[in-house]
Amino acid sequence: MADKKSIRIGILGFGTVGQGVWKHLTQDKAALERRLGVKLVLARASVSDLKKKRAVKLPKSKLTADSFAIVDDPSIDIVCELIGGTTLARELTLRALANGKTVVTANKALLCEHGEELFEAARKEGVHYFFEASVAGGIPIIKTLREGLIANRFPLIYGILNGTTNYMLTRMEREGISYEDVLGEARRLGYVEADEALDLDGVDAAHKAVILAYLAHGKWVSLNDMFVEGIRKITAQDVEYARQLGYKIKLLAVIQRDFDKEALSVRLHPALIKKSELMAQVDMVFNGVSLTGDVVGTTLLVGRGAGQDATASAVISDIADAVYAIQGGPAPAISEEDAEVYDALGAGLRLAKPQDIASAYYLRLRVKDQKGVLAKVARVFADAGLSVATMIQHEDPGSNSAVLIFTTHLSNEAAAAKAVAKLENLDAVLETPFLLRIFNPPPM
Ligand code: HSE
Repeated sequence: MADKKSIRIGILGFGTVGQGVWKHLTQDKAALERRLGVKLVLARASVSDLKKKRAVKLPKSKLTADSFAIVDDPSIDIVCELIGGTTLARELTLRALANGKTVVTANKALLCEHGEELFEAARKEGVHYFFEASVAGGIPIIKTLREGLIANRFPLIYGILNGTTNYMLTRMEREGISYEDVLGEARRLGYVEADEALDLDGVDAAHKAVILAYLAHGKWVSLNDMFVEGIRKITAQDVEYARQLGYKIKLLAVIQRDFDKEALSVRLHPALIKKSELMAQVDMVFNGVSLTGDVVGTTLLVGRGAGQDATASAVISDIADAVYAIQGGPAPAISEEDAEVYDALGAGLRLAKPQDIASAYYLRLRVKDQKGVLAKVARVFADAGLSVATMIQHEDPGSNSAVLIFTTHLSNEAAAAKAVAKLENLDAVLETPFLLRIFNPPPM
């Protein structure tokens, strides 16, 4: 059991999050040291450009352009990987673990792509790899899932895991503004990732869903095996039609396990959700995660899913756990090196097939405004096995076309895909049909 008088921390990447961690560790150092019973030393931070101006100022001696100098420094105990990306970050993480350091990360893409390898490396070296900041920013979802709700199995976890798209959908809903206008606004505010596809195509939220699915079910799901759909095709009209039907549109991650069939579905797509649901009221840049456990029932966590301070809060929580672990204190109830726990959770589990994934649907269709068209559309629905719940026709004067908005009763992904493919081939259908899921969570 180590009993160090001080713990030295190195930070890889001194962008928004890195500076936030440094700022808060510096400001709140005395209180943290009292709680942890050890001195915390902010040893060094690495950057790609030493000359760049930064809001948080460091003595020159503490900044380096060589991240390897930090991971190879024998005096450093904890390495915070806040670089992002999956290439250099992977190399640095593996090297830090091999050097016996505890690593803390906010890097969801890295975990999603290489989690298995990184956990194995931590296991081999007898060190920890902590990642609270990787999912839902400041919401302590990893700790909640692994520790607070340890008594549970989870038939359903769902939520809003991307703040940028939630901000955009909220503004579209509240102000009726177009997707393009709200995207411009989100860019101006610096909310959109440099690689915009991460936010707009749902990739960032899908990475987070994969991590939660692993923690809850012991199975790494590839993005290629998931439905991953972003928000680019949603129009202000869809948001308004949804509102008229009593729904909001949210970009939802849904992780569902059928414990009888041992089938797991992990998906990420926009969905209509009843306005009265608490999740529908998680607006603007906030994230929300709903966990339904077989013992606890449903628990909903809401908070800031991104941003300097919220993410720094999660990283510092991991640094605290890292300090406890280094000092030989109580280990986390379940941690990444508990391979047996995760193997047992995922044993015999298969991915659900499209026909196993139940949902109701919203379908927007632009059609020729002619007699007989509705009958043809209805025939496609019937043949595919979809039952219509509501239909609204919006005339488009002067265009000889009309927009039809359908909602369906509960059906499944295979039937919905079949209907869309057939509708697309009808002469009377003028645009690619646009389908959204309707997500009805079970009562809390
Ligand atoms: N782009 C992400 C979001 C940042 O908007 O939630 C946090 O992962």
